[in-house]
Amino acid sequence: MNRFSILVGDITRSRAQAIANAANTTLLGGSGVDGAIHAAAGPELLAECRTLGGCETGQARLTRGYRLPARYVLHTPGPIWRGGQEGEAALLASCYRSCLTLAESRGIESLDFPSISTGVYGYPLTQAAPVALKAIMDFLRDHALPRQVRLVCHTRETAAVYRQVWNMWYAGTKEERLPEEPETI
Ligand code: APR
Repeated sequence: MNRFSILVGDITRSRAQAIANAANTTLLGGSGVDGAIHAAAGPELLAECRTLGGCETGQARLTRGYRLPARYVLHTPGPIWRGGQEGEAALLASCYRSCLTLAESRGIESLDFPSISTGVYGYPLTQAAPVALKAIMDFLRDHALPRQVRLVCHTRETAAVYRQVWNMWYAGTKEERLPEEPETI
């Protein structure tokens, strides 16, 4: 059974134990998925984030989820795309790896990711997808936790890019290919 899958929808509705947040280094909220997560979690999330003193790009910090269905939020600032020659790929991979490592250390069994850095931060989706999927799949190969990792894409178009890359690189057989019609969250 695949420990990885791709969904379409609003990650704030996720019932995974933890969701990752495409944050910024202040951890004080923003627009995009960061804004949606803070709006759904309520003011207690910002209050806890204020105590963290920010987070470096590529690192991750854990908070409670408050009014979200998810119990925890893993905040990770992705790299801003500056053309691809400034270490963006390594920093993006580090975002996924840092969240997975933190989740494993806390015994978290299910973790949902948004498509980090591919919105406001301008990381081209077709370049982000192979980096993100390699970081996730390498981690799952070497670790038992989290048991389940999902990528929650806001649009079907985003999901199609990740699914195409995953099917090309990680589907050993036709049966293992991710379905054309992704589940909605
Ligand atoms: N659920 C799932 N995915 C979402 C949601 C949502 N509710 N809202 C937006 N997204 C998707 C976007 O469509 C995009 O594919 O999340 C992906 C990441 O886009 P952004 O949220 O813009 O994040 P990012 O590109 O990493 O930029 C981060 O934006 O919101 C600010 O404070 C944040 O400064 C930081 C920057």
